Amino acid sequence: MAKTKTLFICTECGNETPRWQGQCPACNEWNTLVEEMAPTRKRAARAGVPEIPGVPPAAPMRLREVEGSEGARWSAGLEEFDFVLGGGIVPGSVVLVGGEPGIGKSTILLQVAAQLEAAGRRTLYVSGEESALQVKLRAERLGGAAGDVTALAETDLETILLRAAELTPEVLLVDSIQTVYTAELEGAPGNVGQVRECAARLQRYAKQTGTAVFLVGHVTKGGGIAGPKTLEHIVDTVLYFEDSGGLDHRVLRATKNRFGGVDEIGVFRMTAEGLVAVPNASALFLGDRALHASGSAVVPMMEGSRPLLVEVQALATKAPYGAPQRVSTGFDHKRLSLLLAVLEKRAGLAFGQLDVFLNVVGGTRIVETAGDAAVAAALASSVFDRPMPEDAIVLGELGLGGELRRVSQVERRLAEAARMGFRTAYLSPKSRPARLPEGLSVIEVEDVHALVGRLFA
Ligand code: TYD
Ligand code: MG
Repeated sequence: MAKTKTLFICTECGNETPRWQGQCPACNEWNTLVEEMAPTRKRAARAGVPEIPGVPPAAPMRLREVEGSEGARWSAGLEEFDFVLGGGIVPGSVVLVGGEPGIGKSTILLQVAAQLEAAGRRTLYVSGEESALQVKLRAERLGGAAGDVTALAETDLETILLRAAELTPEVLLVDSIQTVYTAELEGAPGNVGQVRECAARLQRYAKQTGTAVFLVGHVTKGGGIAGPKTLEHIVDTVLYFEDSGGLDHRVLRATKNRFGGVDEIGVFRMTAEGLVAVPNASALFLGDRALHASGSAVVPMMEGSRPLLVEVQALATKAPYGAPQRVSTGFDHKRLSLLLAVLEKRAGLAFGQLDVFLNVVGGTRIVETAGDAAVAAALASSVFDRPMPEDAIVLGELGLGGELRRVSQVERRLAEAARMGFRTAYLSPKSRPARLPEGLSVIEVEDVHALVGRLFA
């Protein structure tokens, strides 16, 4: 037997090189090259034979002759899901849904398929991981129209496309892209070349037939979608399904969206009857807040276009051994060090002998600098061992000079705070919006010294 040629593919950028190297020469990432069989095509494409069964190859045409219009979207029947997609399912689009095993990817897609069937849209749910019976059992738990969904347990791409040509579904769901393979390429399912080729074929299928395609993608330990990063370039939308720190809550987040905003989130709860949308996410994240406890502060963060109230907890205690510890969850370590230095220098709080623990509650994270002032307030509250007023929020970025800086979208953040029953907002005079939501008043603070003074003096 002839020796098969292998090559090395970068899992980050998809670049191919003949020799192994520690660093990918194209994207400069380290340890991303994996060895694979060279993708030899077994069957050369024949001219005039459609790649996708039942669909003639695309022909050039004048733009005015192109059919269809923008704007038509299909509701997935789950409000939060539609919201994260940017207003529903776009016909002809490809959506990749990533997440860890057991997070609920299969569940949510089967629910979406059921809702689409109930609305009279034909769906085809292809499972390469579970038998049709297993899918049926899941459907029974979900109830509703899940029984009307057409299921196909298949992993061969050519067969899937053939069945799709017969059934002409409006929405095709493939669970998961890592299990699908094409006989045209060498190599086992799940390897980079296979995953990329299958996704690209499904993308062309979606574009040529107007079918909306959902692909489930497994994630690696690093949190990326397994297989090449290039997968994310092939599809139109990437959704990540995440656990929100314990409980049964799941956060669906768009990280790429050709048809809507990114960083939009939808919150769901896993129940015995599948996933249920949680419309009031702020209440969820504030749920177990201990009032009257020191070291806690609340800040309205933006998650995409949505404001979300988040609690930060800080604990500063005397360090028993030499070098004090700095531990933070949900907040950048370096930013924490910076804020400690600012508090020390500008507000006179000494952290040199203190262990500092910081936690953003509910498994969320604070990435915006608009959360700085709340982190500082929580830290100061712990040092003084005095609680913040329970109906107050703190908002602002901290500069190195200790000054409180302006933040974006103040009106939306304050509206959410007022809606959740908060009455006072500590923020920079520059951030003060022209109109305040009813029931909420502002305490203007210029800098961190004034903030700490007003709160704990
Ligand atoms: P699943 O959708 O299979 O996850 P994924 O496809 O991302 O691997 O969800 C698996 C978990 O959800 C499993 O632990 C069972 C649980 N589950 C429920 O709690 N309620 C339900 O109605 C269903 C269908 C699943
Ligand atoms: Mg699954």
